[in-house]
Amino acid sequence: MDFLESKCSFKNFTEELIKSSNSFECDNSDLNDFFQNDCLNYSKDLLGKSYCFTLDDDDTNIVCAFTISNDSIKVNTLPNNRKRHINKSIPRQKQFKSYPAVLIGRLGVNKNFGRQGIGTELMDFIKSWFIDKDNKTGCRFIVVDSYNTKEALNYYLKNNFHFLFSTELQEKEHMGLTISNELKTRLMFFDLINLGIEN
Ligand SMILES: CC(C)(COP(=O)(O)OP(=O)(O)OC[C@H]1O[C@@H](n2cnc3c(N)ncnc32)[C@H](O)[C@@H]1OP(=O)(O)O)[C@@H](O)C(=O)NCCC(=O)NCCS
Repeated sequence: MDFLESKCSFKNFTEELIKSSNSFECDNSDLNDFFQNDCLNYSKDLLGKSYCFTLDDDDTNIVCAFTISNDSIKVNTLPNNRKRHINKSIPRQKQFKSYPAVLIGRLGVNKNFGRQGIGTELMDFIKSWFIDKDNKTGCRFIVVDSYNTKEALNYYLKNNFHFLFSTELQEKEHMGLTISNELKTRLMFFDLINLGIEN
């Protein structure tokens, strides 16, 4: 957490922040539109909370932003090989139909700051929230429905996420898509137990 910790400030994505900042510009126009126009409604409707880091030298500059909400992994809906993969380090697994998770609904890094490790710093920051001893609820996994692009998939793989479905075909079947349908996103997960829990 070098750059974000030493040169940026962490903030809630509020109306005031949007008014006082330059609009957020990552490499994905849908995401930019979301942070400019939709994220406050998501927050108001309790569907997702958005946060960002701004640059200390110029706090109109949003360096990165993300939105999170509660989610779960419903193991019983997964193919057997993936169910085994997820279950393998969970004790008393028969007691659970689903595992608690947090969903990263949106995440982007300002394109002027791309490929400098900031996305990775941001992911370490998010992961650390959910293993904090003061976390109010149990949360075992981080899940994301990543854009099915080389850039986004590489990013999550580099940050030790795994595919929830091992193949696109399996995922298409699960989504009720035919083989010829394009899969625009891929479900991925990170098991927070790998980081160790602070007691
Ligand atoms: C994906 C994104 C968050 C990466 O942020 P970043 O700050 O550039 O990430 P990092 O510098 O920490 O890079 C981590 C890894 O991501 C992958 N990556 C990042 N940009 C990439 C690119 N343009 N092409 C291929 N891989 C890329 C690489 O594996 C990289 O590791 P490496 O530099 O050691 O090869 C950023 O490019 C972005 O906001 N993209 C648009 C929105 C998006 O796709 N969000 C994620 C899906 S919800």
